[in-house]
Amino acid sequence: MELPYAEPYKMKVIEPLYRSSRQEREQWIKEARYNLFNLKSEQVFIDLLTDSGTGAMSQYQWSEIMLGDESYAGSSSFFKLKNVITQLLDMPHFLPTHQGRAAENVLFSALIKEGDIVPGNSHFDTTKGHIEYRKARAIDCTIDEACNTSEFHPFKGNIDLEKLEEVFKKYPSDKIPLCIITVTCNTSGGQPVSMENIREVSALCHKYGVMPIFDAARFAENAYFIKTREQGFENKTIKEIVKEMFSYVEGATMSSKKDAIVNIGGFIVLRDKSLFDKASVFNIMYEGYLTYGGLAGRDLGALAQGLMEGTEFDYLEARIGQVAYLGEKLTQSGIPIQVPTGGHAVFVDAKKFLPNLPKEEYQAQTLAIELYIEGGVRGVEIGTLLADRNPVTRENRYPQLELLRLALPRRVYTNNHMDYIAAALKNIWDRRESITKGFRITSEAPIMRHFTVELERV
Ligand code: F0G
Repeated sequence: MELPYAEPYKMKVIEPLYRSSRQEREQWIKEARYNLFNLKSEQVFIDLLTDSGTGAMSQYQWSEIMLGDESYAGSSSFFKLKNVITQLLDMPHFLPTHQGRAAENVLFSALIKEGDIVPGNSHFDTTKGHIEYRKARAIDCTIDEACNTSEFHPFKGNIDLEKLEEVFKKYPSDKIPLCIITVTCNTSGGQPVSMENIREVSALCHKYGVMPIFDAARFAENAYFIKTREQGFENKTIKEIVKEMFSYVEGATMSSKKDAIVNIGGFIVLRDKSLFDKASVFNIMYEGYLTYGGLAGRDLGALAQGLMEGTEFDYLEARIGQVAYLGEKLTQSGIPIQVPTGGHAVFVDAKKFLPNLPKEEYQAQTLAIELYIEGGVRGVEIGTLLADRNPVTRENRYPQLELLRLALPRRVYTNNHMDYIAAALKNIWDRRESITKGFRITSEAPIMRHFTVELERV
């Protein structure tokens, strides 16, 4: 019998969890104005709000915390990280930042001006926020298959080359400073982009004089899918695949809180020296000196170690295997999810889950609140609240996908937790017909409203 995969690590430190009552949770979520971001973490039993900065560091990463060199300039921790990045990504220039959106802020300050167009695959909300804040526009060119949650496609994060070329033909190249390839594509379900697509997008970008840039937050998970789903890569290591992926782009912004398994951190890598020089000025202004970029020396060391561990096949197999395990459990109960499951999360199709609820009453948010009340499980809405309003008309934007994301922190929960989550969702599924009323907004911010929005029951 072939032996199954199992986590290539064991537990040394544990963090106890409080199991609250339904009555407590009903009170707490009301006090939180039905916004799950407002809950205190002690009020949550299983926290699937995000996989960002919530992973468990290894003993080697904790050792790096002790070894951190806190010199203002030229710290050895910086050079440790620089070496790993050169080895792994083969990019000549590198700037540390305190997280992913900070990397976006620095790079976009050097690249994007008012009136610009930035095509890509379902830009993440902070990415889109940093584009729109500069009065530029993000155009989503993801393949249509990404929006059909029940149809299997191995690379639902792919960019549609025809859509992309249309953008390139419609606008002059001096209006398109970059094209963002998000690996994996978070918004459409942690869905990967194939090597073939990366290569073709890169070729098209270069043909039209546009820079292909990765949003690389989950690049290692993307590489895992290339290895396991794309022909010709089955015998390559994750690290070899990563190097090839990066060979097609001119640079990347990175949120290290994901695939580098640290609690805080980010960086920019670039091929072009003059762009690096330009971005360096913004890095010093917004983040800090070039060899620490808003991070402590110890953070840089833990990040260097995390990059090496996060690109190991055995770790990725267990990580992505757990996401698939939860997905299978839900599918067995008939619960509609984005298939196949992606790298970091299971995305429940809230439109199909709650068909009796009007979209104006926030289907995915309603499902997220139900799941919290049912089992103390905190997921997050990836739907109308997140999609914000049209910056010009101020009308609600209703995205094609209305999803409840259950993001799994790395190396944190067991499959018993997955069984618990699946049971809680199954209970809601069994009474879904009776959920006919959702929520209305009582207060919201002008941009990125989902973090602070306040709601009441309709
Ligand atoms: N790009 C992607 C694809 C992301 O998923 C995120 C963050 C960022 C950029 C920004 O990075 O948080 O370090 O500033 N995603 C988190 C999430 C917040 O929950 O999906 P950051």
